[in-house]
Amino acid sequence: MLNQKMELELNKQINAEYWSAYFYLSMSAYLDKEGLQGCASWMRVQYQEEISHALKFFDYVINRGGEVKLQPIDAVPHEWNGIINVFEETLKHERKVTSLINNLMDVAIEEKDHAAKSFLQWYVDEQVEEESTVQTIIDQLKMVEGKGMGLFTIDKELGQRVFVDSTQV
Ligand SMILES: [Fe+2]
Ligand SMILES: [Fe+2]
Repeated sequence: MLNQKMELELNKQINAEYWSAYFYLSMSAYLDKEGLQGCASWMRVQYQEEISHALKFFDYVINRGGEVKLQPIDAVPHEWNGIINVFEETLKHERKVTSLINNLMDVAIEEKDHAAKSFLQWYVDEQVEEESTVQTIIDQLKMVEGKGMGLFTIDKELGQRVFVDSTQV
């Protein structure tokens, strides 16, 4: 059984994961408008990944006998300042999510909820990968100054990404 504090914090994180999904979906629309179909498709996969993160929390709250209380999702931006800015904002956002996950872990430790600690470890590890993937893309985009043939190639490559539900493995 989840205690009240843990239940509240997990519910907040469900909302944060949906907000992330919404954020990336909005980026996908922007990138499509900019003519970067590959990047747009990458962001759409990123959206799917965030939905899977939200659902993993959702299932967990239910499995622990807690109550899921879905809240409204705040509006997201819909304009950015070019491709490098999009990925820089992605990295900034992922770093924020990492701190949210770390705070959740702190609560689990304070509340001596060992099951939640074990569950949250998956997200701690996932965030390391998220940040590193996005950093690599930023480095590559900067190498080609976010334009020309280099950008064309990166866009093609990012378009290859397919959604794999890592919460299920
Ligand atoms: Fe996430
Ligand atoms: Fe993420």
